[in-house]
Amino acid sequence: MTLKNITVEKDGEIAVVTMNRPDALNAINIETMTEIGHAMLELGGDADVRVIIVTGAGKAFVAGADISELQAKDGMESRDISQHGQRTFSIVENLPKPVIAAINGFALGGGLELAMACDVRIASTRAKMGQPEVTLGIVPGFAGTQRLPRLVGFGRAKEMLLTGSPIDAATALSWGLVNKVVEPDELLDAAKDMAIRIARNGPAAVGLVKACVNKGTSTDVDAGGTHESDAFGLCFASGEAGEGITAFFEKRPANWIKKQPE
Ligand code: COA
Repeated sequence: MTLKNITVEKDGEIAVVTMNRPDALNAINIETMTEIGHAMLELGGDADVRVIIVTGAGKAFVAGADISELQAKDGMESRDISQHGQRTFSIVENLPKPVIAAINGFALGGGLELAMACDVRIASTRAKMGQPEVTLGIVPGFAGTQRLPRLVGFGRAKEMLLTGSPIDAATALSWGLVNKVVEPDELLDAAKDMAIRIARNGPAAVGLVKACVNKGTSTDVDAGGTHESDAFGLCFASGEAGEGITAFFEKRPANWIKKQPE
């Protein structure tokens, strides 16, 4: 697939996906959404890529769904757009490798929803995050009403969702919406630094940890624990634990087996 609205650059084990419609503040239209899904599936299946960073070109991360495209849609068409977005962001959330959002500027509506589908969020001091949909007479369509309360709690999520007012990076940090805030010119390096620290670790273990945590958001501790025990066993069955533990005692870096994620 030819990518027109996003770019994908690989730097060793790290891939950087850049939302690239700066004239429209990287607003996500249907074509862009399809491209995000396609790129993520490709990177998810690429054994050379260990961690993915998502960021935006220009002054925005993503300023939301493309409002100009929504204008002429009827009820069924807009429902389809919502479902397409939810499916795509589920791909991001469930990819067997970590995805880091490097939030360089406006992350509004679908932009914040994309960032929330990522595993970790790092923001520039310039970032502004919000769910302004109600100001347009709509509700978030890409699972913002579901992921935001899980990240910041119900009260804070409802404040953001009901007022539509954005919050700044410092507030997002204190609310736990982002993991870290850095100066704008340090953002990509900070994301890459975290990506490198993740990429040193066992590929299967990293993918399984992500899956276990995700699973835990919709199960009780016992059911999640069962999933975790299975994952624990898989690390040994795959040979990854054997290599990691041997490398520890031999005081050398592990030679991880590069395999397509299960
Ligand atoms: N969809 C389509 N186009 C968008 C867009 C969106 N979500 N957000 C911004 N744009 C376009 C603007 O229409 C403008 O296009 P133009 O140059 O052809 O007029 C261009 O991007 C620049 O935006 P502008 O509003 O001039 O920039 P700003 O710095 O003054 O304001 C924002 C930035 C983010 C505050 C403002 O663009 C905004 O409120 N955007 C909509 C956010 C939103 O409601 N998102 C949820 C959508 S469901």
